[in-house]
Amino acid sequence: IQTDIPRVRDAVPFTMGSAFTRPDTLGVHGELLARHFGSLTPGNELKWDATEPREGEFTFTDGDYLVDFATSHGMQVRGHTLAWHSQTPDWVFAGATKEVLLQRLETHVRTLVTRYKGRIAAWDVVNEVVDENQPDGLRRSPWYQITGLDFIRTAFRVAREADPDAKLFINDYNTEFPRKREALYSLVKRLKDEGVPIDGVGHQLHLNIEHPAASSVEATIERFATLEVDQQVTELDVSVYTDFVSSYDTIPPELLIQQGHRYKELFDVFRRHAADLGSVTVWGESDDVSWLRTWPIARLNAPLLFDDDLQAKPAYWGVVDPA
Ligand code: XIL
Repeated sequence: IQTDIPRVRDAVPFTMGSAFTRPDTLGVHGELLARHFGSLTPGNELKWDATEPREGEFTFTDGDYLVDFATSHGMQVRGHTLAWHSQTPDWVFAGATKEVLLQRLETHVRTLVTRYKGRIAAWDVVNEVVDENQPDGLRRSPWYQITGLDFIRTAFRVAREADPDAKLFINDYNTEFPRKREALYSLVKRLKDEGVPIDGVGHQLHLNIEHPAASSVEATIERFATLEVDQQVTELDVSVYTDFVSSYDTIPPELLIQQGHRYKELFDVFRRHAADLGSVTVWGESDDVSWLRTWPIARLNAPLLFDDDLQAKPAYWGVVDPA
């Protein structure tokens, strides 16, 4: 890896994080992570399917490995995620009454948050619960269908009890779009008014090189600042595609330049709002490990700050060099 370029973490006035998802290959990727980032989010290793594949059988081998790596390199950890509709084993919902499901949730949340008490600074307690196309703004997941809003209330309550010092987040994507932003805003306001212990709002920010403009991200940060919640950018990446079907054999170099400008515009906004943003996390340390190489289809994508050879891209310079 390059050692003659500035560390990303030193170039920004907030904690800079990255997701990481392959504990078997930390190697040189681990060097890149530890050099440039002050926070690590296990990309899959703390999800329900990874931690409690069968009821009451908890597995923490990969989670522990990443949390230990982060801690020993002076990085914070973001815990991702306690309740989600995806990457959750079927047994969780199978035959569950509301009471049974909330009990399963309570056991799961208490076990994970207790295990990492003091080592995980922030948890995405619930992930992607908003659907702005529903009249009440709530996603029709099994969680919602079986418990209404109670799964959110239970997850936050139990997480707070298990580690009172961890910051508890509600995390979602597309929060830069006005309708989604408002649906999430209403939900957070309602739950906070009820006394649900939500500390912060996580903006995933899976973006692309054309859309949306940094100004819509700025409007979102300003909107949630009025709610007096912490905010974090939790899963930033900037796809070189603007649709779900195109695919390049080689990515046109001008797109990587354009992407560098997008990153710069975004980080201008983040720097301006550093008082509201505790951290900014990119969803992967280098293009070769990006989830966007398999989602929504298998294709060459290059959404991150470092390329396949772990060399700095224009995107990196857009972040590091604000001039
Ligand atoms: C992704 C992981 O990066 C992939 O490895 C996995 O196959 C699917 O999930 N929103 C989220 C993340 O909250 O958990 C997702 O992570 C990306 C979208």
